[in-house]
Amino acid sequence: MNPTDYIQILQQKIESVLLDILDHQKSGMLYKPMIHPLQSGGKRIRPLLCLLSAEAVGGNADRCLQAAAAIELLHTFTLVHDDIMDHDPLRRGHPAVHVQWDEPTAILAGDGLVTLAYQSLLLNDHPNLIEVMKRFTQGLLILCEGQALDKSFETRPSVTMEEYRNMIYKKTAKLIEVSSVTGAMLGNGTREMIHSLSQFSEELGIAFQIQDDLLDISEENISGKPQFSDLIEKKKTFLTIHFEQTADEACLQKYRSLTQNRHLPPRKIRQILECFTDSGTLDAARTAIHESMDKALEHLHLLPHTRSRDTLEWMAGKIRDRNA
Ligand code: IPE
Ligand code: IPE
Ligand code: MG
Ligand code: MG
Ligand code: MG
Repeated sequence: MNPTDYIQILQQKIESVLLDILDHQKSGMLYKPMIHPLQSGGKRIRPLLCLLSAEAVGGNADRCLQAAAAIELLHTFTLVHDDIMDHDPLRRGHPAVHVQWDEPTAILAGDGLVTLAYQSLLLNDHPNLIEVMKRFTQGLLILCEGQALDKSFETRPSVTMEEYRNMIYKKTAKLIEVSSVTGAMLGNGTREMIHSLSQFSEELGIAFQIQDDLLDISEENISGKPQFSDLIEKKKTFLTIHFEQTADEACLQKYRSLTQNRHLPPRKIRQILECFTDSGTLDAARTAIHESMDKALEHLHLLPHTRSRDTLEWMAGKIRDRNA
């Protein structure tokens, strides 16, 4: 079976567990805004990583389905709150929860989604469940730390690349790492296998976020998220930091005047993109993505060769080249 078909089978299993969880919650006004973002789409990368990691260590993906669903529920919660924090009106091609309803509703929908995530994870009766829960909970706390850093960087005049990497490790890579580790632990992987998958998914997560930064300004972006939101919100991304570090004084002056206020008409956007291209920033971002992905694969190759390992490698390539 080719990787696309295999991924599709796993995706269908994930959808069916999520549907099952939501079916029980269908009625009542709390639930509609929780169901809305989950049924709006989403690539389901994290639950897929969980299932494939379980299999890559010799475990059974079907025994991890509730945990995989828990990870997607948790991720969806972070998106609902992230869109409030980032003032983004669109998510997965549909109005964000705080736009479709209002902010109080979106805050509560997020709370409900975290709760469902824990409820789903607790359905597993694996002897290591407590350890899995510890990592899941620690991962969530680190993600919150990352979101706090991301927010605080908006008002900082400058941020170093090291600070940025620490921030994206926390806000994005950590949950991606937790996804793999959850699968590997529930799949009874050895310590070495769990460690390799942890390192693999951490590097994958770093590449994933740099690619996400790039997509914000990319013409090929079909993510169903608003474009140029990072620029408008004055986010510190790989692009802005690299540009600030490498551009000459004249380019910097031009860039600063272009990004002075939140109004970014197409003419200004075009000029900003020119700045990023001329300074080599876009190329540097692509190189950084490839470097992290190569490191990720080195860790992955420490695992025994199986169909699931091949599928993880295939997925990594898709993530590296994605436009959504
Ligand atoms: C978006 O994650 C949030 C980031 C960490 C960049 P995804 O790009 O995986 O979003 P969905 O789940 O496919 O919508
Ligand atoms: C998201 O970072 C990280 C989390 C949701 C925790 P972004 O703010 O860049 O994600 P998008 O671009 O809105 O999906
Ligand atoms: Mg955001
Ligand atoms: Mg954000
Ligand atoms: Mg983003």
